[in-house]
Amino acid sequence: MSKFDGRPIIVTGGASGIGRALVAHLAAEGAHLGIFDINGSAAEEAAAATPGTASAYCLDISDYEAVETAVQRFEEDAGPVYGLVNNAGWDEARPFVDTRPEFWNKVLAINLVGPLNVTHAVCRRLQHREEGRVVSIGSDAGRVGSSGEAVYSAAKGGVIALTKTLAREFARRGVTFNAVCPGPTDTPLLASIDASGSGRLVKALERAIPMGRLARPEDFCEVVSLFLSPRSGYITGQTISVSGGLTMHG
Ligand SMILES: NC(=O)c1ccc[n+]([C@@H]2O[C@H](COP(=O)([O-])OP(=O)(O)OC[C@H]3O[C@@H](n4cnc5c(N)ncnc54)[C@H](O)[C@@H]3O)[C@@H](O)[C@H]2O)c1
Repeated sequence: MSKFDGRPIIVTGGASGIGRALVAHLAAEGAHLGIFDINGSAAEEAAAATPGTASAYCLDISDYEAVETAVQRFEEDAGPVYGLVNNAGWDEARPFVDTRPEFWNKVLAINLVGPLNVTHAVCRRLQHREEGRVVSIGSDAGRVGSSGEAVYSAAKGGVIALTKTLAREFARRGVTFNAVCPGPTDTPLLASIDASGSGRLVKALERAIPMGRLARPEDFCEVVSLFLSPRSGYITGQTISVSGGLTMHG
């Protein structure tokens, strides 16, 4: 019997970066993956490359109706959903005073409303099933702040608070909620944030990180898999940084 034994798990943003590495890892551990991504062709490609069972659903997680439809379709394809990884995210680094409400709304829609939508659609189903796991990919920006990322940091702090609150609400229903906070990670998102293209940001980060390198997408797989495991039912409401020692919380 494999670790996940065919259990259906949704990974949002599973077409790229951290999400794509999670999809490959969890599929190899026997989960039935649903890749929920706004980039439909990349999601199809990730599903085809997955060593196991995975299917792609093209949607914008900030659209509640689209989320509800996709969760319903995933359950028809894979069976009752067991797990969710809220991973899709987006940002552009800009000084706060230079930003406008249109930009805030986009950042909040993807990084906070999106996780609310998918978590709501999944939890409405999990509440009567007595087994379920939700893991949200936060950010150290949501724990310690990040210059140039005020609204994103606020959204990620919101995701961490959501995780703790739902951990309490669902504590007696067999559903756990935990958050994993990446430090700077070598993905297309970080490349787009380093808008200068000079690589100066990456070099500065590498100097600051005690382990001397950026995270790689694969660095998050073991901890996410641990939180998702059917054997981890007594761990809930926790937030862990995976950042090569850059952030250490008591
Ligand atoms: N890369 C980093 O340095 C870093 C650091 C801390 C936290 N994170 C977080 O890790 C997570 C993954 O980021 P990544 O670096 O792998 O990014 P990425 O850009 O490589 O992948 C993000 C994925 O999310 C999808 N996506 C974006 N908006 C969407 C929407 N509205 N609906 C559905 N899908 C959408 C994209 O199409 C893409 O496939 C994000 O939550 C991000 O905030 C990343």
